[in-house]
Amino acid sequence: MTETVLLVGGGGREHAIARALAEDCELYACASNRNPGIARLAAGTEVVDETAVEEIVAYAESIDATLAVVGPESALEAGVADALDDAGVYTFGPRKEEARIETDKAFQRRFMRDNDIPGCPAFETFDDVEAACDYIDSHNGDLAVKPAGLTGGKGVKVIGDQVTEAEAKAYLREEAYDRVVLEERLVGEEFTVQAFVADGDVRVTPAVQDHKRAYEGDEGPNTGGMGSYSDASLHLPFMTEGDYAAAVEIIQAVVDALPEYKGVLYGQFMLTADGPRVVEFNARFGDPEAMNTLPVLRTPFIDVLTAAREGDSLPELHFDEQATVCKYAVPEGYPTDPAAGARIKVDEESVGTALLFYASVDEREDGIYTTTSRSFAVVGVGDTIEQAEGVADGALAAAGDGLRIRHDIGTHDLLQARIDHVNRLRG
Ligand code: AMP
Ligand code: GLY
Repeated sequence: MTETVLLVGGGGREHAIARALAEDCELYACASNRNPGIARLAAGTEVVDETAVEEIVAYAESIDATLAVVGPESALEAGVADALDDAGVYTFGPRKEEARIETDKAFQRRFMRDNDIPGCPAFETFDDVEAACDYIDSHNGDLAVKPAGLTGGKGVKVIGDQVTEAEAKAYLREEAYDRVVLEERLVGEEFTVQAFVADGDVRVTPAVQDHKRAYEGDEGPNTGGMGSYSDASLHLPFMTEGDYAAAVEIIQAVVDALPEYKGVLYGQFMLTADGPRVVEFNARFGDPEAMNTLPVLRTPFIDVLTAAREGDSLPELHFDEQATVCKYAVPEGYPTDPAAGARIKVDEESVGTALLFYASVDEREDGIYTTTSRSFAVVGVGDTIEQAEGVADGALAAAGDGLRIRHDIGTHDLLQARIDHVNRLRG
């Protein structure tokens, strides 16, 4: 039987999901923007806000969807997975309750503590800004300051790294966040492990390193992620196999404590002097990380979805032993003051052998327009990270005026700096 799959979301992550599914199913997609890459792969698309639960269910019913995949966390928080499941469309994505592992950082930390999940930093949760500011004043040492709710990856401020204590307090007061988590600042190198989860089964994918900071050399504000790389093995050059295994154990412990969880569980880790600690969990594929993972996944992704729906054991995953490097082109001014609504040119011819993923752009009759978020990404695939980097960087000639790129992602120098950093920490 040919499955009819509804994909919710219109970013680079969802373009990668669409590419992984399009040949094996009848694909439909809905999102608040018209992503030209997804539109080309899909039998039909609809412009609908990712949180418009009833409209999404109505669209799923109109196309007789047999499966759904939810990309963005905003949709999970709105209860899109619950509503689609309840309408009889099995959705690969957690219900609202389980999605709190991402959507409520205070819940996430308490969940880790209450279930003895390894790798949890010391933390305190607050229900008002002034109590959080008092804690910052009285605390001796650096803290990560986190609004408890969703902020598109841009809400966290780290005292001693990006901001001073005074700046952190001013930020909390200005934004008037009602719920805040303050936690131990973790020092090390970050990496991501994404897993497919259903009925307690966990199937892990290669580690990826994202680059959160806006500018080269890891300077500037946090973004949704400027680009990322993965190696030809499961781990990354600055990690050991044991570090990867420790991260997988943490993901398994989360699933053991959340037996109803289904979808992608994304662990963000800090490789510290004491091994991996948990920065956060996400309830979906990472963006950009999905663009590293899905192009090298040999196991048909549709087989994961159908096994999850049927309650069968999830298939063992096979990957090409290839490295990947993903680089995003983002609007000038992103993330603080993005130039949205600008018409951009994407020269598809100049991409060469790299993969091109459209992201938060809107295709209109007269061209492609930026939104407030990332515009498109290129992904190089190769035997080594350096080879993949060369392919990705060569493809960035596709970016016309008005777009900004972090060219340093995946380069030899930056990789070496990561390795040296971990070696220093480990003595
Ligand atoms: P999050 O939204 O929780 O992923 O946080 C965004 C970024 O803030 C992370 O990718 C880290 O770079 C940084 N961060 C979050 N929590 C911590 C922490 N406890 N210690 C150091 N950095 C952190
Ligand atoms: N790349 C980080 C995220 O998807 O949250």
